[in-house]
Amino acid sequence: MTERPLRVAVLGTADIARRRVLPALAKDPDVELTAVASRSGARAREVAGRYGCAAVTSYDAVLGRDDVDAVYVPLPVSLHAEWTRRALDAGKHVLAEKPLTAHAPTTAGLLDLARASGLALMENVMFVHHPQHTVVRELVTGGAIGELRAFTAAFTVPPLPAGNIRHRPELGGGALLDIGYYPLRAALYFLGTGLEVAGAALEHSDGSAVETAGAVLVRSPAGVLGQLAFGMEHAYQSAYELWGSKGRIRVETAFTPPAEHKPTVWVTDAHGPRELTLAPHDQVAATVRAFVRAVRSAGTDPRTAAECLEQATLLDAVRARATGR
Ligand SMILES: NC(=O)c1ccc[n+]([C@@H]2O[C@H](COP(=O)([O-])OP(=O)(O)OC[C@H]3O[C@@H](n4cnc5c(N)ncnc54)[C@H](OP(=O)(O)O)[C@@H]3O)[C@@H](O)[C@H]2O)c1
Repeated sequence: MTERPLRVAVLGTADIARRRVLPALAKDPDVELTAVASRSGARAREVAGRYGCAAVTSYDAVLGRDDVDAVYVPLPVSLHAEWTRRALDAGKHVLAEKPLTAHAPTTAGLLDLARASGLALMENVMFVHHPQHTVVRELVTGGAIGELRAFTAAFTVPPLPAGNIRHRPELGGGALLDIGYYPLRAALYFLGTGLEVAGAALEHSDGSAVETAGAVLVRSPAGVLGQLAFGMEHAYQSAYELWGSKGRIRVETAFTPPAEHKPTVWVTDAHGPRELTLAPHDQVAATVRAFVRAVRSAGTDPRTAAECLEQATLLDAVRARATGR
């Protein structure tokens, strides 16, 4: 017997939902978009109209609907915890934008609630679903660059408009949670768990109410050092590099490659420099597939939950190291 599609509703008409996630949800054969909710009726109608689903003028009303199995939460960071909790309490599976919450204990509480309720709760971190990083990891574990010695990663973006949620501290803005998230997550991906934050600095540009840049030094239990940089008033950069005892590997367009992007992995090893060109991969579609799989397999995969909590703990440790809070 074929299963009926997962019926998904979206809370808010966020830029990321409009540009990337709603099109991927609409394309997935195992997903049916049921409703788009917005604080504004006009915005709900405009976005819902594109997908032929219901326009709802209240996030709450969506959670009460019987034709919704799961919700996607692309709200400002400060609202993720409240709406994720309310959705889980209403018996809905949740795909929540990254970071799931601003503090590790809150993240832990939500993951516990999802586990106890038998519901899937997944943080929408998409780059880890792109196979270019698996290729790199296999090269490293296969010994292509010898012993891993160091890791660098940077994600920086050009200035955003003044009213953008990332400039607003009351909405959970700031470069660390929104942008620093990526190089930190990449460090966990390549250096593994148990990272120590050996140093961290957050920088506010003139007049900014939130940090606009940061740099972090991490150390893995095996003694590999990672240097991570991020910022939101910078030339665009989305890259990482792994240096080993016998070679190095570099990846650009690392964190948010478009579906049609053909990744290149630059490897310098015992045979000299070479470029591996990989097939394009739609990491947004892959993340939606992973969410559907999590729902179908009766809840949150323990490894995914552990990674989510580890990432939240690392973000807290960076903030504490840089600010003393
Ligand atoms: N995974 C990724 O690759 C990725 C990429 C970009 C962003 N993100 C994450 O996605 C989330 C949203 O980012 P975004 O840039 O798409 O945000 P955005 O365009 O500003 O959208 C946020 C949405 O939240 C709703 N909202 C509810 N209360 C709000 C309030 N008080 N102020 C502002 N908006 C409010 C609004 O929808 P209505 O007014 O329609 O209700 C708004 O459209 C963030 O957590 C961000 O880190 C993830």
